[in-house]
Amino acid sequence: MPEFTLRVNRNEKRVNVSPETPLLWVLRDTLELTGTKFGCGAGLCGACTVHVEGSAVRSCSTPVSQAAGKNITTIEGLSANGLHVLQQAWIAEEVPQCGYCQTGQIMAAAALLAKTPDPTDEQITQAMNGNLCRCGTYERIRKAIHRAAGNGGAR
Ligand code: FES
Ligand code: FES
Repeated sequence: MPEFTLRVNRNEKRVNVSPETPLLWVLRDTLELTGTKFGCGAGLCGACTVHVEGSAVRSCSTPVSQAAGKNITTIEGLSANGLHVLQQAWIAEEVPQCGYCQTGQIMAAAALLAKTPDPTDEQITQAMNGNLCRCGTYERIRKAIHRAAGNGGAR
């Protein structure tokens, strides 16, 4: 098995896996970072969203060979203490229902806010529309993103 070096949550990790192994399985099974979830495995639901070089990517559809040497952030590394402004907003708005999709939702929202600190409803819809929630928490997600952006309400 070839060795790959990954920079995950600011730590360098070496893993021995085949090049086509999805990043999701390396994160969850090899590195035991189980905050990132498996939903569809086909790039369709967004549950597995992580950041690669600051952009939201589907880790189920990203071979580890493509992520090697890049900066990867998972929900565990989004903030030092688990209280990123979005996580605080998620708590305040009581967003999660079953919770399964929520890691991916928060990671997608964090990538959005990093590039667009005060997004409009339209920008939120566009950035988040690949992240599915079978519990239908979309409106609370929207409110929490606005709260985290500091504008207090929809625009
Ligand atoms: S598990 Fe990756 S997009 Fe659904
Ligand atoms: S909170 Fe249940 S799938 Fe989104």
